[in-house]
Amino acid sequence: MLLTRFLLLLPTAAYAFDPLHHSGPASPYFDAPTQDGIPHDMPAGCIVDQAAYILRHGARYPEPGSFAGWQNLFAKLQNAKYTAKGPLAFLPSWRVPVDDVPHQPLYLTAAGALEAFALGVDLRKRYQLTKGGDNITVWSAGQQRCVDTATFFARGYLSQGNYLSEPSANRANIIVLPDSVNYTFANSLTPSAGCPQYASGDTSSVAGTFRLSYQPRIAARLNKFLDGLQLNATDIGVMMDLCGFQTAVNGDTRFCGLFEESEWRLYEYAHDLNYYYGSGPGNPFSATVGFPWVSAVAELFSLGPGKTTPGGNITPPPLVMGFTHDNNLPPILSALGLWNTSSERGVYPLSLTKPNEKRKFRSSNVVAFRGYVALERMACSSVEDVQNNGTTHLFVRVRVDRAPVEIPGCASGPGSTCPLQQFTEYVHKTRARAAGDFVDKCGLSSVANSTSHATFFTIAPPDMDEVVVGLN
Ligand SMILES: *[C@@H]1O[C@H](CO)[C@@H](O)[C@H](O)[C@H]1NC(C)=O
Ligand SMILES: *[C@@H]1O[C@H](CO)[C@@H](O)[C@H](O)[C@H]1NC(C)=O
Ligand SMILES: *[C@@H]1O[C@H](CO)[C@@H](O)[C@H](O)[C@H]1NC(C)=O
Ligand SMILES: *[C@@H]1O[C@H](CO)[C@@H](O)[C@H](O)[C@H]1NC(C)=O
Ligand SMILES: *[C@@H]1O[C@H](CO)[C@@H](O)[C@H](O)[C@H]1NC(C)=O
Ligand SMILES: *[C@@H]1O[C@H](CO)[C@@H](O)[C@H](O)[C@H]1NC(C)=O
Repeated sequence: MLLTRFLLLLPTAAYAFDPLHHSGPASPYFDAPTQDGIPHDMPAGCIVDQAAYILRHGARYPEPGSFAGWQNLFAKLQNAKYTAKGPLAFLPSWRVPVDDVPHQPLYLTAAGALEAFALGVDLRKRYQLTKGGDNITVWSAGQQRCVDTATFFARGYLSQGNYLSEPSANRANIIVLPDSVNYTFANSLTPSAGCPQYASGDTSSVAGTFRLSYQPRIAARLNKFLDGLQLNATDIGVMMDLCGFQTAVNGDTRFCGLFEESEWRLYEYAHDLNYYYGSGPGNPFSATVGFPWVSAVAELFSLGPGKTTPGGNITPPPLVMGFTHDNNLPPILSALGLWNTSSERGVYPLSLTKPNEKRKFRSSNVVAFRGYVALERMACSSVEDVQNNGTTHLFVRVRVDRAPVEIPGCASGPGSTCPLQQFTEYVHKTRARAAGDFVDKCGLSSVANSTSHATFFTIAPPDMDEVVVGLN
């Protein structure tokens, strides 16, 4: 922290483009850059008294489909007789960075575990919302990499000290919800799978079309360094993905160095199109599936920390953590009405052919590994409040990968935050209207037990599992 501050003061701070900040879902976690000129710091006189995070798991090994792509590239590089020069000279000796096939693809990497642990440390230091010895309950989707991210988060978040052998104190209780099933409807951390209409609104194939507009050109540029072998569009896609993935697995950044800044920006934009039209505001069911989480958190913020809803049998801690997958974050942005309006014309919906630099919807700044959308409830006292009677006023701030983001039309509070009462109205009126009712819009009206509400924070769902995480 001190070091960062010091470096920021250096006058030369030369602009250096970092492909790892432009690799979309293959980016390791980094704090997103400042938006709307709002500093990352807390406004003076404010404390956070309640916060809710929904986040993607940490860095993982490839999914089976992309792993097959890595293996195909390897086979191609091994089976040909060719010479490789210049930046490609390393290709003949490159190996697929997976050395335990049954146990690695799909699962969290050690770097992902570190990302999760670091967030736990960071949030304890930043908020101090629960005391060292207090248990904490967190929520996770059921896939192993999400539960593992929750576990490593908890290990970082729990006070270490002398709690090591005290089993009744300082434990995390993970409520594990079924992952990507269609019978939990809105009451889930993976609600898109519970909305049968959602897939019909997914037009993310436009990303593939966009990729074909630039990948062959990159292949042609790199093929000048090869004799006896031709890279094609597919190979370029795999090699660009490997920058982020391989950096996480073994720190090898050689693929990052192969491509030019303009090429990375096109690669990033293809990811932006994939998320915007797949799970984000370009899918007409996106806000519908993101809304239940937003609404549940708005309700918890209205009640305040330490309270549960009427009929609730769980009192959520003041720090409400939910662990899930990348595709479940853009729906939250849609439900909140973020990154889909601009004072500039022609920014949204995103162009299918030409990146607009004015866009705020950037996949790298939200669905990087361990990326998140967070809502903070802030209690603030102005100088006059303190002098008068010590009154506090309540506000809500949205953070996306730590960068504060303004809620359209609701930014009158300190640091462009939204007054809590106005936030509640915005969610329950404006955004509820934009989202529509989950059951109706998803075509579930005649399905038994279907629900439009995420109640799992306060009412234990019937098909959950519980995992207890201690330090020993
Ligand atoms: C903390 O959690 C553990 C494990 O679930 C439990 O045995 C213990 O009673 C809890 N302690 C408190 C103070 O709630
Ligand atoms: C859930 O999926 C099963 C299996 O594909 C299917 O038979 C069922 O109709 C689906 N339920 C809903 C509510 O879409
Ligand atoms: C590129 O080459 C690989 C391996 O030679 C092949 O499997 C793939 O279909 C090719 N892709 C394109 C777009 O031609
Ligand atoms: C995003 O903006 C487009 C274009 O204005 C609009 O049609 C769509 O409903 C918006 N999506 C959300 C989730 O607000
Ligand atoms: C405290 O002072 C503020 C003005 O700073 C005023 O709005 C508020 O009504 C006062 N509250 C009480 C309980 O007197
Ligand atoms: C609906 O919920 C009831 C009570 O939990 C359960 O017995 C029943 O099997 C459920 N029906 C379906 C179709 O899931």
